[in-house]
Amino acid sequence: MKSLEAYQSFINTELLTRINSEQYQEPKGLYEPCAYILKNGGKRVRASLVLMAAKLFCDNFHKAIPIALAFETFHNFTLIHDDIMDDAFIRRGQDTVHVKWDTNTAILSGDAVMILAYRFFEEATDFVPQLFHLLNDTALKVCEGQQYDVELEKADLLHAQVTEDMYIKMIELKTSVLIAACLKAGAIIGGASATDADNLYEFGRNLGIAFQLQDDVLDTYGDVETFGKKIGGDVYENKKTILVIKALNHLSESDKQELLQLYSHNNKEKDTFDKVLALFAKAQVESRANEMVAYYFAQAEAYLHKVLVENNLKTELFLFMEDLKKRNY
Ligand code: IPE
Ligand code: IPE
Ligand code: MG
Ligand code: MG
Ligand code: MG
Repeated sequence: MKSLEAYQSFINTELLTRINSEQYQEPKGLYEPCAYILKNGGKRVRASLVLMAAKLFCDNFHKAIPIALAFETFHNFTLIHDDIMDDAFIRRGQDTVHVKWDTNTAILSGDAVMILAYRFFEEATDFVPQLFHLLNDTALKVCEGQQYDVELEKADLLHAQVTEDMYIKMIELKTSVLIAACLKAGAIIGGASATDADNLYEFGRNLGIAFQLQDDVLDTYGDVETFGKKIGGDVYENKKTILVIKALNHLSESDKQELLQLYSHNNKEKDTFDKVLALFAKAQVESRANEMVAYYFAQAEAYLHKVLVENNLKTELFLFMEDLKKRNY
């Protein structure tokens, strides 16, 4: 069994060998930002999940490496464009690509990183049409999720009814289907039955929802040092996260009106963020959101139990989930 750190360093080495190749050096204005996003850390959750899922069904996970890199690289592409869309300045504790360079550079190098995902995919030898379909299907869903995210960001809370169901649908698309697909891809490569591959997909779908809920909580209550992103970014950007939805559902009428008012402005000041925080505290949104996190982790766990391989083989994934439950990064 490998630790998460061992997976991360293994994946980093595989990625570095490829992006350091001579063909990806010039023009520097294109490839330096690509290398920057691909080299500057990240938890490597998606690639690790592909490899772990493959290992459930076959001894040698090496044949899953191209697909693990393809999914991880696709994820890194989404981050470059997401940071433009979210006006985010810090990622993984460093300047975002569009801040370090400029927006046009971030658009184009983002495109290139997406294509690099497919370049790494080219090395795959088995189950190629099936995996290709899975990646493309998932990639479009991520775009759909990002579009819902933007639409909800623009939705005026005073007049639009933003429900918890809409929010869950949005995060399922923008985040959890990718995590689910990584597990399914690993299962396919390992030779799993269709039922096991589907149960792993459901494990990942629930895990991914919990993961994005945590991300929303950490965006407000985390620490920039460990989380690596600007704290409060979602509030400043009017993101309709689980926190604001919970607040609206649990505040008194007058507090609710105040929160709606605070969310009717773009370009919030620090003072507005503090007022939002006070209302969030009144509605106990952090603990309410964490209850949902626990619910989705429990759902995930139930699907992992259904996978028909020996229990000791699943330990790695169970431990991985335990690590994620505690995350502040
Ligand atoms: C960030 O994903 C985007 C979300 C879906 C919340 P991660 O938190 O996995 O980002 P890195 O790759 O580890 O930086
Ligand atoms: C991320 O959602 C979803 C994708 C990148 C597709 P967020 O916008 O919450 O992710 P962070 O917080 O910027 O990492
Ligand atoms: Mg973002
Ligand atoms: Mg976003
Ligand atoms: Mg976020």
